[in-house]
Amino acid sequence: MRKILAILLVVTLAVGLTLTLTACDDNGGGGNDTPTIGVSMPTMDLQRWNQDGENLRLQLEAQGFEVNLQFAGNDVPTQINQIESMIGLGVDVLVIAAVDGGSLTEVLGQAETAGIPVIAYDRLIMGTTAVTYYATFDNFRVGQMQGEFLRDALDLPNQPGPFYIEFFTGDPGDNNIFFFFPGAMSVLQPFVDDGTIVVPSGQIDIMEVATPGWSTAEAQSRMETLIAMNNLTPGGHPLHAVMCSNDSTAQGVTTALLNAGWTADNFPLITGQDCDIISVLNMIDGTQAMSVFKDTRVLADNVVQMVTAIINGTTVPVNNLDEYHNGTGYIPTNLSEPIVATTDNYVELLIDSGYYTREQLTR
Ligand code: BGC
Repeated sequence: MRKILAILLVVTLAVGLTLTLTACDDNGGGGNDTPTIGVSMPTMDLQRWNQDGENLRLQLEAQGFEVNLQFAGNDVPTQINQIESMIGLGVDVLVIAAVDGGSLTEVLGQAETAGIPVIAYDRLIMGTTAVTYYATFDNFRVGQMQGEFLRDALDLPNQPGPFYIEFFTGDPGDNNIFFFFPGAMSVLQPFVDDGTIVVPSGQIDIMEVATPGWSTAEAQSRMETLIAMNNLTPGGHPLHAVMCSNDSTAQGVTTALLNAGWTADNFPLITGQDCDIISVLNMIDGTQAMSVFKDTRVLADNVVQMVTAIINGTTVPVNNLDEYHNGTGYIPTNLSEPIVATTDNYVELLIDSGYYTREQLTR
């Protein structure tokens, strides 16, 4: 009898072990051997993340991977739950654009324990050794381009000024603002220091000019406050430019300025980034001066190459090893080049390249 029980125990253990191994092998891909890639995007509210998610999904699927794509509604707990469930499903690689770069330490600890490589997408994930690679655009360069645009458009080196400029950047939980804003200030700060630029509100510290959630409504409301503080209107106090770190904030600022009576004929120069359709239309209308084009197809393509190399065990393409420190060390990074977009080149950049159709850029 004991012998039979012992045999039964061994058989049970063996079956259990086989089932466990099969479960580990099932990469969340429905029980086959196709690698599954978990893609976690911050929100569907902004046009760019929808494009990023869709480009990634299409390009990863074209390489034969299965894709588990989730959007987190700009909510940290939602993003943590979604990543936890991807880890539970045994995805092979995680690609994450964080809602808040500092809030994923615990959940990514689980990924690390499970041996799942993590690629931080566009936004660096801070304070965790779980981040294996980072793929983004040259974020400091994005800010520099915005600063250079204003420097050249206002001819700051040759004009006495003063030029009145207000500043807006993005969410304090997004590590990118610590590249965008300093990038812009690396060009503009000398002109603030010598009095060529004057900030009517006096608000110039990165935390004072931050916009929670990169929200258009928040940016509009802060611009309305700034307008009221100093009567920044066409007949009142002059305003030459508003340096905005991206299009979602630029759009809020543009609305506030239109409501305050500015028109395309005298509109202050507004900077942005992303080439959101609304902002490109504003550029065509004369109510936004520039944007920075970050071709999400290029970023997705780079990430697909990185994922493929990870899965195949070959060398992962990176081109920057000493700039993006997440608090635990420098993360090997793949940087893409941003491009300045204005009404001079948007047709070539955005329509001829197939990024948008002509109809999308027509009101
Ligand atoms: C991205 C920008 C985007 C912003 C708001 C940043 O992390 O780099 O392209 O405009 O988030 O979503």
